[in-house]
Amino acid sequence: MIPNLKEPYGKKTYRRLSDLVEYFADRKAVEAILSRDNPVVYEVYEHPVPPEGEHLIFATTVLLSGKVGEEFYFTKGHFHTEPDGAEVIIGMGGTGVVLLQDRAGRCGEETLQANCVVYSSPGYAHRVVNTSKENLVFLSICRADIGHDYDTITTKGFAKKIVEKEKRITTE
Ligand SMILES: [Fe+2]
Repeated sequence: MIPNLKEPYGKKTYRRLSDLVEYFADRKAVEAILSRDNPVVYEVYEHPVPPEGEHLIFATTVLLSGKVGEEFYFTKGHFHTEPDGAEVIIGMGGTGVVLLQDRAGRCGEETLQANCVVYSSPGYAHRVVNTSKENLVFLSICRADIGHDYDTITTKGFAKKIVEKEKRITTE
């Protein structure tokens, strides 16, 4: 049984569509949505700890259900830098996919759902995609002194995207 770690938390961060403009493939769909709304795509509940290797970052993310064009809502995704350590992602509710991509651009995917664990090995970027009609909730755990590289994903993206076509969930 995984406890609900949203409460108590020290910091809550909202990621809205305007924070993810560069990430979705269909820029026209992004602009069309932003012309009328700026929806929350995900919320992160963090538990601040000292940024030292003896400590662990553990954060609960609530990734909402939704799409931009054909593409399902996802987290930005990132690589780790120094130390380029692993991360454990534990599903707590909902259903989705974790994209795992190495620096050569090889991209795999793992199912994420309640009571399911996905291991992101050292050297792999990770992005979570919500393919369901409900919130996808997951707990992420990694070393507290880990470095984050968002820029590589901002510029190069992931090699795969998860879309819905003719009511079918498809990887492109
Ligand atoms: Fe991470």
